[in-house]
Amino acid sequence: MDTPRAGSATRRRPGSSSRLSRRHLLLGAPAAGLGALALGACAQSGAATRAEKVLSISLNQAEDHPSFGALTDFGDELVEATDGRWGARVYPNESLGAQQEVVQLVSDGSVDLAVVSSTQIENLSMRFRPLNLPGVFDDIEHQTAVLDDQSVVGDLFSSLEGERRLRVLGGFTQGSRHLYTRSGPIESPDDLSGMKIRVQESDVFLAMIRAMGGSPTPMSYGEVYTALQSGVIDGAENNEISYVTQRHNEIAPYFARTNHLVGLDYVVGNVDRIHGMQEQDQEAFADCFRRTRDSFIETWIRQTEDATTTMEDDGVKITDPDPDAFGPALEDVAVSFLATADDQDLYERVRDLAGTKEASS
Ligand code: GCU
Repeated sequence: MDTPRAGSATRRRPGSSSRLSRRHLLLGAPAAGLGALALGACAQSGAATRAEKVLSISLNQAEDHPSFGALTDFGDELVEATDGRWGARVYPNESLGAQQEVVQLVSDGSVDLAVVSSTQIENLSMRFRPLNLPGVFDDIEHQTAVLDDQSVVGDLFSSLEGERRLRVLGGFTQGSRHLYTRSGPIESPDDLSGMKIRVQESDVFLAMIRAMGGSPTPMSYGEVYTALQSGVIDGAENNEISYVTQRHNEIAPYFARTNHLVGLDYVVGNVDRIHGMQEQDQEAFADCFRRTRDSFIETWIRQTEDATTTMEDDGVKITDPDPDAFGPALEDVAVSFLATADDQDLYERVRDLAGTKEASS
């Protein structure tokens, strides 16, 4: 547990702050959590880190990604709502580790909260998989309606609280994900033939890129910049905001708006840590989180537009492939992963909410 991670030196992208040694953090962590320890380790300042107890929040994004601002504000609001008993400190840029490792650290209580992609939760429990398939969500509005419907996600979100000690607090959208490459443009599966495309560590993503014509190469988020730069991979897939905030636009200037999936990040917390708060503080925590999620969506939409403008200004070649070029293959991928009756049931209940939205709009 206390061995520094291999390969950390290769994970930094230009401009990101230096990685904190996980050994340093874990050995020094006081009972009040990691947050009290590493003051000055990142740019965050203010009341949230001067609270009596400070929750550590692990994030793999840079400081200019909307989740950093949203969670920083969450910490500030929490201090106010709990009269200074609780605050939160956000550790950006994978400084506590890549998501795959951090989810374990939250599970064992070394880190209090983390933002982790749905792919990592899929790896802990297949029950989450239907929410990670191409086509399951139409758009952010539909995804939000699903996340707010306890009859659909309530049991699922509490299903990791037993052995895993993980509470799913809710979701932050990843918006629509698209493909980008060092050379292009990409209009059809043939254009991806022989191209190594980075994917998250997930069977669904591996199958999805194969179906789209490319060769999937799993690796953690923080490694993508260097892998693109050195030509280890030919491309990757993500949303506009990640593409720009990770500066992948500098080295992979062909961006094909394939809309292959509306992605989802979960915010997870250690159950024992949250139960350790007095009841009124748990309620304040839940209220603050709900507000954070709502303002996150507004910021997300605005920043996606800003990222698109940056891409255009920087000369990124943006294309909009015919939806039929990849659509049927993506549908087949989704169907192939609906393995059980429960998967099918969850998928259908999610799709039913899309129908409701369309009917009422
Ligand atoms: C998005 C998402 C991250 C995820 C990343 C990835 O940026 O918000 O949680 O890790 O994609 O592709 O790995």
